[in-house]
Amino acid sequence: MDPEILGTLGELERKLAELERTIATLERMEGGSEHREPPAGDGAGEPAAEPAGASGSRLVDESVTGAPAPPADEPTRGRAYTGPAASGPPTSAAPSGPPTSAAAHGQAYTATPAPAPAATPGPTTSAGTHGRTYAAAPGPAASFASAPGQPPITVPATIAEPGELIRFRDRLERTARELTNDYNELLGRLSQPPAASPAAATISFARGAPSLDIIDVQGLRDAAVRALESDPAGATAYGTSVGYPRLRSWIADRHGVEPERVLVTNGSMQADAFLFQHLVHPGEDVVVESPTYDRTLLSLRERGARVHAIALEQDGIDTRVLARELSAGRILPRLAHIIPNFQNPAGYTLSLAKREDLLALATDYQFVVFEDDPYVALRFRGESLPTMLSFDPERVVYASSFSKTVCPGVRVGYLVGPAALIEAVANLARDTYISPSMIAQAIVYEFCASGAIERSIETVRRALQERADTLAYALRRELPEARFQEPDGGYFMWVTLPQGTDVTALSHAASELGVSFVKGTDFLLEGGENTLRLAFAGVTPKQIDEGIRRLAAAYRSIQRP
Ligand SMILES: Cc1ncc(COP(=O)(O)O)c(C=O)c1O
Repeated sequence: MDPEILGTLGELERKLAELERTIATLERMEGGSEHREPPAGDGAGEPAAEPAGASGSRLVDESVTGAPAPPADEPTRGRAYTGPAASGPPTSAAPSGPPTSAAAHGQAYTATPAPAPAATPGPTTSAGTHGRTYAAAPGPAASFASAPGQPPITVPATIAEPGELIRFRDRLERTARELTNDYNELLGRLSQPPAASPAAATISFARGAPSLDIIDVQGLRDAAVRALESDPAGATAYGTSVGYPRLRSWIADRHGVEPERVLVTNGSMQADAFLFQHLVHPGEDVVVESPTYDRTLLSLRERGARVHAIALEQDGIDTRVLARELSAGRILPRLAHIIPNFQNPAGYTLSLAKREDLLALATDYQFVVFEDDPYVALRFRGESLPTMLSFDPERVVYASSFSKTVCPGVRVGYLVGPAALIEAVANLARDTYISPSMIAQAIVYEFCASGAIERSIETVRRALQERADTLAYALRRELPEARFQEPDGGYFMWVTLPQGTDVTALSHAASELGVSFVKGTDFLLEGGENTLRLAFAGVTPKQIDEGIRRLAAAYRSIQRP
């Protein structure tokens, strides 16, 4: 038996008992009694409002849906919250420690087969294996469930109206249900072989992809039907190397350019690869940001380029250092690869002034600016900035993607650039794969033309904001040693730990505890051993909260005594 799980079960048992007492008190108050009887304990205030989407989000990360279900063959060990009306208030005030069976404590919960976690999304990962509780977490459970050393639950003194009482009771009951789910899940874990549980419950901050709950699957289905109905010949043909014509025109309109300046590809990664193949030859200088997208580094190295990484500041690439390197003749670049908005991996955005500086340098030193911009639409704070493409369409080649706003599975991205360059790159595309996927591009076209894209972007943006805020809050609470800049949009946050922290060791410790991230060194040519990238698009707020608890536990575990 895992003593930590047993300890957590005991905690949950106590919290459930407190909730039970409070709900029973509310029942009596609703029953017309003028006497406002204080429940056990005192101190906790009015419950916080439930953050939008917090309870509605589905637990979809493959690692979470793979979490162990409560054991079906042990029905008497599960608990189902049935509400006080069915059960009556408990007789014993204090739980007697970790339970061996639900019935043993005479609690007001009927012992029935435990509900499967997937059927009732609850904080399945929140209690975790670390004996931690909800007390400081954002969300409904934070307000009620008392942690060790926290004041117990009480009825807010301001509640006077019967309607308020009912709402308050409803919230408590919801919390009781969530705690019951946690309880059942932990019981399930007790019966799992120890090696299976951490891997099965891994929370991934590594994946730069949206979780399923923020993908408009129905909208995509409808778009697919329309694509095949409205243009069966075009959608099912080989098509042309420049991409599905209707989508090409839609993108051109969006950027205010001629369609001849647009090439639609199988994901923007493919667009990047074609552009590098066309422009960058072995031994040529290329400027990148430091840190930068790891696949860009890989691609450029494979091309045999001499990669010069210039420091990325919170307002973008250090243009003064770049100017110095250029004027000293130390770099003679063919191309500068820049991720201007909510950069991958840092989450930083290139300021307007630096956009202008960079273009001035590109003109003076005759290099192409490759504006790699898949996150541009995902701003959730502050004002949008103009693209560098809009300032100088002859010197800038622009790439973007539908991976981050629609879904990565469609594999649709694009390039915008001078018509001659687009034609040359289209020839490479034709020689490589004849044409990109027409059917995927026809679906994306229908999705865009119907306006579903705008709704999808709004959904993703809102979720990202909530997730970024939850991440920052959890980091400050659990890992105050971490330094980071909160992003204004996008998918990523860059975290710097105290000098000397071995993030490789942290990564191993974290995976033992069921949480993953990407080490900062993957995005750098050198240094950054104390840095990491946290991707927050693929994890729900509850998973973020629990994931950061685990990360902090891993961090503590690698500290020397
Ligand atoms: C900066 C950057 N460029 C390109 C890509 C590739 O995107 P796509 O899925 O469109 O190939 C990514 C994906 O994470 C990215 O972060």
